[in-house]
Amino acid sequence: MSGNIYYPDSSYKETAKIHNYSDKYQEFTKDPDAFWRRIASDLLWFEPWDQVRVWDHPFARWFTNAKLNITYNCLERHLNNDRRNKVAICWVGENNRERILTYYQLHKDVMRFANGLKSLGVTKGDRVCIYMPAIPEMVVAMLACARIGAVHTVVFAGYGAKALNERITGSQSKVVITADSTVRRGGSIPLKPIVEEAIINAPMVEKVVVLRTQEPKVGLLDDLEIDFEDLMSSVPRQCPPEPVGSEDPLFILYTSGTTGAPKGIVHAAGGYMVGAYYTTKYVLTLQENDLYWCTADPGWITGHTYGTYGPLLVGGTIFMTEYTPDYPDPGVWWRLIEEYGVSIFYTAPTAIRMFMKVGSEIPDKSDLSSLRILGSVGEPLNPEAFEWFYHNIGKDHCPILDTWWQTETGMHMITTMVGEPMKPGFAGKPIPGIVADVVNDEGDPVPSGTTGFLAIKEPWPSMMQMVHQNEERYRGYWNFGKYHYYSTNDLAVKDDDGYIMLLGRSDDIIIVAGHNVGTAEIESALVSHQSVAEAAAIGKPDDLKGNLIKAFVILRNGVIPTPKLIHDLKYHVRMMLGPISVPAELEFVETLPKTRSGKIMRRVLKAREMGMDPGDVSTLEE
Ligand code: WTA
Repeated sequence: MSGNIYYPDSSYKETAKIHNYSDKYQEFTKDPDAFWRRIASDLLWFEPWDQVRVWDHPFARWFTNAKLNITYNCLERHLNNDRRNKVAICWVGENNRERILTYYQLHKDVMRFANGLKSLGVTKGDRVCIYMPAIPEMVVAMLACARIGAVHTVVFAGYGAKALNERITGSQSKVVITADSTVRRGGSIPLKPIVEEAIINAPMVEKVVVLRTQEPKVGLLDDLEIDFEDLMSSVPRQCPPEPVGSEDPLFILYTSGTTGAPKGIVHAAGGYMVGAYYTTKYVLTLQENDLYWCTADPGWITGHTYGTYGPLLVGGTIFMTEYTPDYPDPGVWWRLIEEYGVSIFYTAPTAIRMFMKVGSEIPDKSDLSSLRILGSVGEPLNPEAFEWFYHNIGKDHCPILDTWWQTETGMHMITTMVGEPMKPGFAGKPIPGIVADVVNDEGDPVPSGTTGFLAIKEPWPSMMQMVHQNEERYRGYWNFGKYHYYSTNDLAVKDDDGYIMLLGRSDDIIIVAGHNVGTAEIESALVSHQSVAEAAAIGKPDDLKGNLIKAFVILRNGVIPTPKLIHDLKYHVRMMLGPISVPAELEFVETLPKTRSGKIMRRVLKAREMGMDPGDVSTLEE
C-alpha cells in the first residue's frame, strides 16, 4: 500500500486555518460540544441554543431550540461587514456573457423572489421543487425558499420526467421553479416540456414559475404558470428573514436508493449551516480574496454545500459557468481559470481523468498560477489521476483535497487537510469533528491493510436528520454492526498512519462519472418497457467514468432482439430517468442469476462480466 507521499510547501502550513491536524483533532476529542459551540458562535442566531447536541441514537438534535435563518448568515452578515459590494457570484455563459452579483444585489434579488413565493401562498415548511440550470437564478431561488422557511428540493436539470415526477410527489412540492431551457454544449435543451410531463399526476403542484430566457418568449398557461421576472416585479422589496428552528428542515435532496424509490435526504437548518460553514472555512480554507470555483451543479449535494451555502456563509466569491469541461474544446476551463484568476478549484475525478486523456499540452497553454488549492469529490481519485492533477494543474505546489463525503453527511468527512502530507489514492483521515473507522461487519476495527466498511461512530452537525417520510429507512443507516454505527455503504482500507483509501460502494449503487445511480431505478425503467420481462444492471469499471452501466435484459416471449430495440430501450431510460442513467451496454439474456428467494445476484453478473471468480454462490438458485 505504500506509494508516493507529497509534503506540502511550507507556505501552505501558514495559510491553512488548522495549523496542526492532531492538535485540532484533540481539541475536538477533549470536548466535542465546546468544539462545535466555538464554530457555531461565529454565526448569527436569533435565539441561542439550549444544548449543542442531544444524541438519542439514532436521532441527533443539534443546537436545540435555537432560532436562525441561513440566509441572514449568507447575506446580512456580510452586508453589515464591509462585503456589501463584494462579488458574491461571478457567472460566465457559453457565449462568454458575464453576470456579476454583489452581495448587495444577491440580497435584493433573494428578498424579492422570496416575496414572490409568498405571494403564491408558499409559507414556512412548504416544499418547493427547483428544476433549473446552473445560473444565478438557481441560487436566488434556493435562498429565497430558505429566507421564508420553505424547504427546497432541487432536482438536477438532467433528470427525465419520471425521475422529476417522483421527486415532486415524494416531497409534495406545492410550487415548481424552472426555466424554459438550459444551454449545453452550444445547444439549447428545453426544460419546460419535461416539467409539463412531470406534473401530470402531481396534483399537489399549484404553480410553476418559469424563467424565460429565449426570444420569442415561450407561452405560459394561464392559472398554472407564471413568469419568474413578473413574480419579482410586483412585490414589496423588503423581506425580513423568517426565524426558523434549528431542527426545522432546510432542504430535501434525493439520492439513489438501493431498492425502490430514491430517498429524500432531509437536512436541518442549524446543524447543516454549522457543518457547511466549518468545512468551507477549515477544509477548503476559503478566504477573503479567493475566487472559488466548484464545478458541481447545484442539483447535487456538492452544489448545495460547496457551490452555494458554504461559500456564501464565509463571504466568499463564487465562480459559476455554463461551460462543460470539453466544449467548445478541452482547454476552456483552464482559460477561464487564467482569465478570472480562480484560486480554489473543486472538481470531480471523472473530469480530471478526461483532461488526463486529452493531454497536458492543453492546460499548459494557460497560466494557472492563480491556483492555490485543488479539490476532488464524488468517487475515488486514483493515484494516476492525483499525480496528473498535482503536477500538471497544481504545478507541484497546490495541495489536493480528496474529500470523501455523501449527500447524507452534508459536509466533508474524510480528507487530507491543507498542510498535511498527501498520499495519492488515499482520501485521508477523518477531519476534526468526525469519528470514523474501517471496520468488519460486526463493527470492530480491521487491521491496517485489510478491506472493511467505512463506518461513522458519532453524530456530526450536518448529518441528515431524516429520510423524508421514511423513518425506517433512516434507522437503517444507523444500524451497522453490533455498535449500531452509521453505515456509509463504502468499502475502505486504512494504512499504518490512519489514512483511508476508498474502494467503492458495497451496495447496489453505481457511481457513474461521480453521480449515484441506483440499479433498482434503471431496472424498473427497463421493465416498464413493453418488450422487457426482467432486467439487471451492474457497474462495469471504466477508465474515464469510474463505472459505466451495463444492463442485462430478458425479453418478453416472442420479442425479437434487434439493434433497433437496444436503441429504443436506451431512449426509453433516457426519457424516464435522464442521460446519466442510460446503460452504455445492453445485453439480451435468457436467464439471470438469482438467489433462492428470487433476488438478482448482481455480484455474480459482475464477476462473470469481468472474468473473475464470483465468490460464494451457495445461495444461487439452480
Ligand atoms: C462516493 C457526493 C471516494 C462514495 C459528495 C460515497 C467518494 C458517494 C468520494 C456519495 C471520494 C464521494 N472518494 N468515493 N473522495 N466522494 N464518494 O451522495 O461512494 O452523491 O458514498 O455525495 O460517492 O455520493 P453523493
